Amino acid sequence: MEVIKIEGGRPLKGTVRIDSAKNSTVALIPAAILADSSVILEGVPQIVDVEHLGMMIEQLNGKYEIDNDELTIDPTHLINTPLVEGAVNKLRASYYFMGALLGKFKEAVIGMPGGCYLGPRPIDLHLKGFEALGATITQEAGSIHLKAEKLTGAKIYLDFASVGATINIMLAAVKAEGMTVIENAAKEPEIIDLANLLNGMGANIKGAGTGEIRIQGVTELHGTRHAIIPDRIEAGTYITLAAVAGDEVKIDNIIPHHLEALIAKLREMGVDIEVHTDHVIVRGRKEMKAVDFKTSTYPGLATDLQQPLVTLLTQATGVGMVTDTIYSDRFKNCFELNKMGANIKVQGNSAIVQGPSKLSGARVKATDLRAGASLVIAGLIADGVTEIGNTYHIDRGYSNIEDKLNNIGAKVWREDVTE
Ligand code: EPU
Repeated sequence: MEVIKIEGGRPLKGTVRIDSAKNSTVALIPAAILADSSVILEGVPQIVDVEHLGMMIEQLNGKYEIDNDELTIDPTHLINTPLVEGAVNKLRASYYFMGALLGKFKEAVIGMPGGCYLGPRPIDLHLKGFEALGATITQEAGSIHLKAEKLTGAKIYLDFASVGATINIMLAAVKAEGMTVIENAAKEPEIIDLANLLNGMGANIKGAGTGEIRIQGVTELHGTRHAIIPDRIEAGTYITLAAVAGDEVKIDNIIPHHLEALIAKLREMGVDIEVHTDHVIVRGRKEMKAVDFKTSTYPGLATDLQQPLVTLLTQATGVGMVTDTIYSDRFKNCFELNKMGANIKVQGNSAIVQGPSKLSGARVKATDLRAGASLVIAGLIADGVTEIGNTYHIDRGYSNIEDKLNNIGAKVWREDVTE
């Protein structure tokens, strides 16, 4: 079994360059199959989720070529193959092939998506959206079959501003006949990035980034070139770790505006953050006071940063109450942090963190992607060596994590150990 080992206690200093957004990339790759010619994506992050989507493009007989961080997807000879096993079960975003294949071929057969377990993650809103556009849906032997004679634009109200449902409906609606209006749409920056790619391919989408997205269907989409936005969650993770382990760390190649809720919360705790146009400078390792926070949809505090922030709270003075309103069971990292000396109680969808606690190196497990990030941060500040198992979760979302950390003075390495 591969583990990540971290020798804690080294003050960090230097620059971390943030890669492009995982949660954009995983939508943009399926979106590319809607074109009739090659789509080039610039700045693709080297993460395992991207590799799995590449395998799915190849299963569909598309060409998938990656040269450094530039990805070319050529969907010219695409075949509508059922995607029922293999890569499809390895990540959540595989379900974007539902919308993309439905949009392109009016039919899709897709196995159940994988991804982190964070409590129940239903896809009812995606399916209701497809039905509103004219698809019939059947479920057989663990896969979902979507079929439409034709797709017709519709008015779709989302009961919850779901990122996944908004993206999937956009992917199906771009080639529907007439106008689709998504009301209570998700406003995350990744939705705008997807709309920009699709518009570059010839789609007609207005209002992305607001609660009402209007999509006038078109009959054809063509290839284009698109630069992916920076990863606000990777950025937020490094900002958080710099707050607790950094003397002075520059987090570069970011859009600070996407991180306003995080920056405000960290300043409230007493963290010194200097905001520039495309980077921030964090001067950390200072006294921090505990705060309460709740996660919410964008522009609120992202649920994906909740677990890294819990590690930060273990170092702040006082009691902080953390409530995750998006996912009910995103607290498994707390039990691992307690093994390292933290004092966290989990109650329903809240965690109560009493700090400050002295953390010590221990053997812990990354139970999901952002739990992994939370434990990496803990390892950086703990006494002694921390060993983090289930590294595959971390590799799904953080590219070159040990290089990025070692470059700023950490001591992080991988080892194969017997279980
Ligand atoms: N929901 C429903 N029904 C649906 C869809 C969603 O009830 O049909 C509920 C979910 O159960 C959840 C909430 O709505 O409680 C939020 O779900 P949403 O659809 O917004 O999230 P997602 O599309 O499944 C994406 C990211 C997540 C991120 C969330 C929230 C991708 C591939 N995943 O998930 O990223 O936490 O939006 O911002 O884009 C991560 O990167 O670690 C991660 C989990």
